[in-house]
Amino acid sequence: MKSVLFSRFFLLLPWILIVILMLDVDTRRPAPPLTPRPYFSPYAVGRGAARPPLRRGGPGRGAERRNESRPQPPPEPPLPTIYAITPTYSRPVQKAELTRLANTLRQVARLHWILVEDAAARSELVSRFVARAGLPCTHLHAPTPRRYKRPGLPRATEQRNAGLAWLRQRHRHQRAQPGVLFFADDDNTYSLELFQEMRTTRKVSVWPVGLVGGRRYERPLVENGKVVGWYTGWRADRPFAIDMAGFAVSLQVILSNPKAVFKRRGSQPGMQESDFLKQITTIEELEPKANNCTKVLVWHTRTEKVNLANEPKYHLDTVKIEV
Ligand SMILES: *[C@@H]1O[C@H](CO)[C@@H](O)[C@H](O)[C@H]1NC(C)=O
Ligand SMILES: *[C@@H]1O[C@H](CO)[C@@H](O)[C@H](O)[C@H]1NC(C)=O
Repeated sequence: MKSVLFSRFFLLLPWILIVILMLDVDTRRPAPPLTPRPYFSPYAVGRGAARPPLRRGGPGRGAERRNESRPQPPPEPPLPTIYAITPTYSRPVQKAELTRLANTLRQVARLHWILVEDAAARSELVSRFVARAGLPCTHLHAPTPRRYKRPGLPRATEQRNAGLAWLRQRHRHQRAQPGVLFFADDDNTYSLELFQEMRTTRKVSVWPVGLVGGRRYERPLVENGKVVGWYTGWRADRPFAIDMAGFAVSLQVILSNPKAVFKRRGSQPGMQESDFLKQITTIEELEPKANNCTKVLVWHTRTEKVNLANEPKYHLDTVKIEV
């Protein structure tokens, strides 16, 4: 009886050992790394940053195995580039506003910032800022003629037009890569979701804007996926009753309407957006974004005028500091 038990045991033993070994090998597959992968800004690529290429998985062997087991998907078409045109002018809060905006724009993939100073030449402050901004940036300048520097007249006309001219010049020869243009004033607040929404603009897209026109928000009214009117507190009779922060235009539309610019002559205050959009699109063509224009993803914030009442008339500090 005893010997029968023993012989059975020894018969089974090798099999048990094999099973234990196999389980052990299985659990020794490389575990996912505990430390999170370091974050790399998508902009670092292509801006000459010296950095080894990102390598996913183990060196060599892992890549081969992945390659054998399933074919690589075809490369995706490149994301349309977002061109953000930002007019800016010298004032005590300028660097603070630009810093805030750069911190937002730096999070957006394939974004090209076009910063246009209202000045006869590029300022040192903005040049230094651009050099350290950490995102692809073009620094332009265009002075506003003195006769237009009056309250009640539209602002930033020359700067926005300089941005448009630069875009058209840059894409003069080559067939334009997909791109989207929008006007990013330096004092607004932008949700990152807004950039996802505008990226799919085919011609001209629109969305609500918060804290504007004397209301909590303004928005295009949408029925069956089409813009049919405007919810606004001010001059609803405007053809496009929308703020500068409320629309984006595809690069193709900008290039195929080479004469479309912001007008000084004949433009009434507050009609800049309408006058511009009239030249390139119709209400029927507008593409509503942000959940059929029911989500606010950009706010027309205003920075309080800073109090410099105690600023000395002549430089008193022992060092000179850029603010
Ligand atoms: C497998 O990878 C090698 C080098 O990484 C590459 O040259 C080859 O084209 C790949 N094969 C397939 C089927 O993707
Ligand atoms: C917008 O409205 C249209 C028509 O009512 C609908 O088909 C579409 O799914 C809506 N889009 C979103 C993002 O809700």
